[in-house]
Amino acid sequence: MIGRLNHVAVATKDVRKASAIYRDTLGAKVSEPVPLPEHGVTTVFVELPNTKIELLEPLGENSPIVKFLEKNPNGGMHHVCYEVDDIHAARDRMKAMGATVTGSGEPRIGAHGKPVIFLHPKDFAGTLIELEQA
Ligand code: CO
Repeated sequence: MIGRLNHVAVATKDVRKASAIYRDTLGAKVSEPVPLPEHGVTTVFVELPNTKIELLEPLGENSPIVKFLEKNPNGGMHHVCYEVDDIHAARDRMKAMGATVTGSGEPRIGAHGKPVIFLHPKDFAGTLIELEQA
């Protein structure tokens, strides 16, 4: 069911510092920080030839990555995002398979303007998974 790896998201307390590491040390092409208040994060997009890395910094008090950074004060890999053809069909399949879809279970518009759902890490080898309708 899942297709291409769309992105890997890395949470950090300082997105400018993390961005500099990717740009200067690793030599990658990085965007300017993009505040996404509706998602509670400021994001830098790192463009690689075959996928993207998203650097996430908390934005606002209800940021979804605050708890993760409390547990991982140095930051770390937050989630992976796989592409699917049909987000509703994917959601229904995940529920039928007994997986936990986070939040309301309804797809919502993600950071790329496309519908996404998130799957709880307890069902996926400890990794938070985002499914995005490509
Ligand atoms: Co994501």
